[in-house]
Amino acid sequence: MATFLAVAPKTFVNVLEAELKSKQFKVIQKSSLGIYFSGNWQDCLRAHLSLKTATRILLPVLEFNAYKDEELYNNILKHDFTKYITVQQNFVVESSVINCSFKDSRYLSLKVKDAIVDQFRNKYGSRPSISKTDNDLKVVVKGLKNNYFVALDTTGGFISDRGYRLDQGPAPLKEHLAASLIKLSGWKFNEAFIDPMCGSGTLAIEAAMMATQKSTMLKKQFAFQGWRTMISKDWRDTYAEVAGQQTEISAGQIFGFDHNPRMISVSHVNAKAAEVEKFISFKQQSVADFSMSSIPSKGTIIVNPPYGERLGDVQRLEKTYKELGTLFKKQFTGWDCWLLSGHPDLTKSLSLKSVKQIPVFNGPIECMFLHYPMY
Ligand SMILES: C[S@@+](CC[C@H](N)C(=O)[O-])C[C@H]1O[C@@H](n2cnc3c(N)ncnc32)[C@H](O)[C@@H]1O
Repeated sequence: MATFLAVAPKTFVNVLEAELKSKQFKVIQKSSLGIYFSGNWQDCLRAHLSLKTATRILLPVLEFNAYKDEELYNNILKHDFTKYITVQQNFVVESSVINCSFKDSRYLSLKVKDAIVDQFRNKYGSRPSISKTDNDLKVVVKGLKNNYFVALDTTGGFISDRGYRLDQGPAPLKEHLAASLIKLSGWKFNEAFIDPMCGSGTLAIEAAMMATQKSTMLKKQFAFQGWRTMISKDWRDTYAEVAGQQTEISAGQIFGFDHNPRMISVSHVNAKAAEVEKFISFKQQSVADFSMSSIPSKGTIIVNPPYGERLGDVQRLEKTYKELGTLFKKQFTGWDCWLLSGHPDLTKSLSLKSVKQIPVFNGPIECMFLHYPMY
């Protein structure tokens, strides 16, 4: 058994914890970086294939205090990094520091790299190369007030890059952010889900993937599977287990709309790549002209309108937000409406009072996820 750290943005750590528990992972504890869970390597693969709200999975290997080069060097040598890759392979060190005596993360990376290189040289008389872009092992070092956390990146890349976004609009949500917002909204899979401004389709696609337990990762290999210690492992049962959990939902339950016809084509392309196209209805229409043949009595709307920060301009958008508020009130009585707001003044134009305000980051933009129950 090993201890892994499933990483998520700070605001979504609770959402990730709930997801891990719902998927029967053995949660150990919460930290500001994510959730520690225990399991074997098959569990690590299962996490990669099935988690929607994590960004990557780390394997913590060391934790220590250090103030000087020598202390850092000696502590790094306490873990045997030579067991993961050969001298013909590549590695990289990714560092970050907050309030540490090592002020420059690049210097920290260099010192950690030197220690690891020496470990290989002492054992094999030779060393692996460094590559930022093409590496077989990424060592992650996070320093906080001279306490250093060292982990190996088992993912290699990000599990939040699902690979289905073949095309996109100018301001798409990251996939794990969309999935986390859906979890936060409490959408029930047997009820309707609508994104009236769907852009590249991310929210609708994530909703469909969540409800059907679809994984776009089933053909992928992750960094840890290439490590020397994993050579003889057979992963087929775990891939088959996750594939076998995929289920169907009825069509006519998940909807995406956008006034821009190009975004509707993009959404179709992406949903097809995610293999959930048949569960989603995409249609071109503007919020002002919104119509559906029949609107169920209950359901969830999540909308990520332009904020004026990246798209459109604030004055023009006031009218759009007003139209959204009217749409919620007139056509969605009984529904849970949620809006990701990056601009507090614009949300005033909805003329609605939110009952819940959850602070979240959309990339660098500080946003509020606002709940408007239409009762
Ligand atoms: C911030 S983007 C949504 C991004 C989306 N969540 C994604 O992940 O790609 C906002 C979208 O709202 C659409 N939009 C703007 N005004 C609209 C309106 N009045 N009616 C419908 N869609 C609108 C834009 O075309 C754009 O695609």
